[in-house]
Amino acid sequence: MLRLGVNIDHVATIRNARGASYPEPVRAAELALAAGADGITAHLREDRRHISDADIALLTDLCLKRGKPLNFEMAVTDEMVGIALGARPHAACLVPERREEVTTEGGLDVVRGFDRIAAATARLRTVGARVSLFIEADPAQIQAAADAGAQVIELHTGAYCDVAREGHADRAAAILERLKAGAAFAAELGLEVHAGHGIDYATVKPIAAIPQIAELNIGHFLIGEAIFVGLPQAMQRMRALMDAARLEAAA
Ligand code: PXP
Repeated sequence: MLRLGVNIDHVATIRNARGASYPEPVRAAELALAAGADGITAHLREDRRHISDADIALLTDLCLKRGKPLNFEMAVTDEMVGIALGARPHAACLVPERREEVTTEGGLDVVRGFDRIAAATARLRTVGARVSLFIEADPAQIQAAADAGAQVIELHTGAYCDVAREGHADRAAAILERLKAGAAFAAELGLEVHAGHGIDYATVKPIAAIPQIAELNIGHFLIGEAIFVGLPQAMQRMRALMDAARLEAAA
């Protein structure tokens, strides 16, 4: 079945808005795992705007205890690689990072940053991390990810979700075709395919229907929805849509 990774960064965003000690991301992670999340995703940004180093330590312990994967999202910097080598997460997802951006706005440019990314990938693999590169569904980027030694790519779904939500059906269909072709090409190269960014109830099904995708990582929408219905219920509805999309696509 398609796995659901829950990104709990924005629990930390709420905590940090007050400089308080709550709400705790690790408590959200515990709840998400109890409600059937297949893994937890957290992004330790260079500016520490949401997740902190202490959160990573707590999340690492929790995931180890529960036997569930922690997907550590990180920029390709010596500092972050050092932290990941110490934390030894199940998975490391390398993402582009610019301090002025509101969120991760595009995919990693593996073609231009090849040497740096390949070197970081090799170092992370020495501690058993499955390395994933967060990229656009561009054949050159996908080929470069495979050449750099990554085992996984995560396709950036942000542009698809934005235009689909804005009602631009033609543009959404074109981006979806690129995501489909990219997932198929990556699978041919032997890469595991994940997807994430910007996914909500309205956009999840076409993405979940892409057969090569093994995992979706979803954060902002689920944490927002949790305010109204609770995290378990928000996750259950998301999971039901993911499963329905898979069944309908297989029929
Ligand atoms: N996957 C990656 C690589 C990300 O950087 C993010 C955002 O931190 C997500 C998934 C989750 O995106 P969203 O919070 O929009 O669901």
